[in-house]
Amino acid sequence: MTDKQIDDLTGTETTGHEWDGIKELNTPLPRWWLWTFYGTILFAIGYTIAYPAWPLISSATTGVLGYSSRAELDKDLALAKAAQGDLVAKVAETPVADILKDEDLTRFARAGGKSLFKVYCSQCHGTGAAGAPGYPNLNDDEWIWGGSIEQIHQTLMHGVRSPTDPDTRYNIMPNFAADGILTPEQIDTVAKQVASYSGIEGGVATPEGQQIFIENCAACHGENAAGLVDMGGPSLNDKVWLYEGTQGSLEGIKAQLAAPRHGVMPAWGARLGEAAVKELAVYVHGLGGGQ
Ligand code: HEC
Ligand code: HEC
Repeated sequence: MTDKQIDDLTGTETTGHEWDGIKELNTPLPRWWLWTFYGTILFAIGYTIAYPAWPLISSATTGVLGYSSRAELDKDLALAKAAQGDLVAKVAETPVADILKDEDLTRFARAGGKSLFKVYCSQCHGTGAAGAPGYPNLNDDEWIWGGSIEQIHQTLMHGVRSPTDPDTRYNIMPNFAADGILTPEQIDTVAKQVASYSGIEGGVATPEGQQIFIENCAACHGENAAGLVDMGGPSLNDKVWLYEGTQGSLEGIKAQLAAPRHGVMPAWGARLGEAAVKELAVYVHGLGGGQ
């Protein structure tokens, strides 16, 4: 039922609805509003034709402009890469020690090394490079193979005991028991001697222990057990242990003597290339323990 009327006061047609004497005016929508509204509908239709929009079974309509956010990203990445290209080339051709003399280049290399580290290194050395038993901490001043920028670079280029790199860092601790180099008593004596160097419980320093150490261990671990980076023999006189975390124990030392472990790190030079390895070396060197 319609019973439209003209409202006396405003001269506008009413909708015919009335509540308690209050009538609803049927004010037309403003023109500008209507046109804007129609405009947005047209725009939406145009947009879905021009750009990817409607979902299909396995993809979506591609749109006549052929836009894709993936292609756009590729373009941005290519631009960013081109912008960095100069710096990457500069890193690649600068001797690694000289990179540290150039503040901007160092900053660039360190940032690159940081993200490379997350991808290639953190699974073994930890995201913060704090290491784990068997995987050295790279933040501290303790270096098995040396903490100068060149030494770190060398370690990264060729790895440690890498089966694929002939220039890899290599040294093998003999199995003193199985190879019959030391008797079980001598092993016990020298293990206690080593434990005594860092105050480990059960450690006992004796003249015989010292003698066995000098004759059998010093060649790789140093006369004073402070380690020899050229041999990859870790220091045995402090609280930093490769295989024992930060604890160190007489048992751990005996375990290494009974069955020496030989840590393996991949050679990164062939895999990541010169520039990336230098960036990683700069990053690792800058973690705090660099010498
Ligand atoms: C598969 C595990 C693994 C991965 C991945 C790995 N490392 Fe290592 N890394 C080791 C082990 C094990 C050692 C100790 C080798 C040894 O016993 O001498 C080591 C040693 C090192 C050393 C020598 C430390 C010292 O005290 O001299 C550096 C530096 C190093 N890694 C950096 C890196 C960087 C940078 C990456 C990433 C590009 C990386 N590592 C990836 C296992 C790994
Ligand atoms: C030919 C060299 C060589 C000789 C000799 C040698 N070592 Fe080692 N030793 C190593 C190397 C290399 C490592 C590190 C193994 C690794 O990186 O995986 C090592 C590791 C160790 C460790 C483990 C250190 C840690 O941080 O966890 C202990 C303990 C140790 N040696 C004790 C001895 C004692 C004691 C002797 C003498 C009886 C001895 N070594 C003789 C090369 C040697």
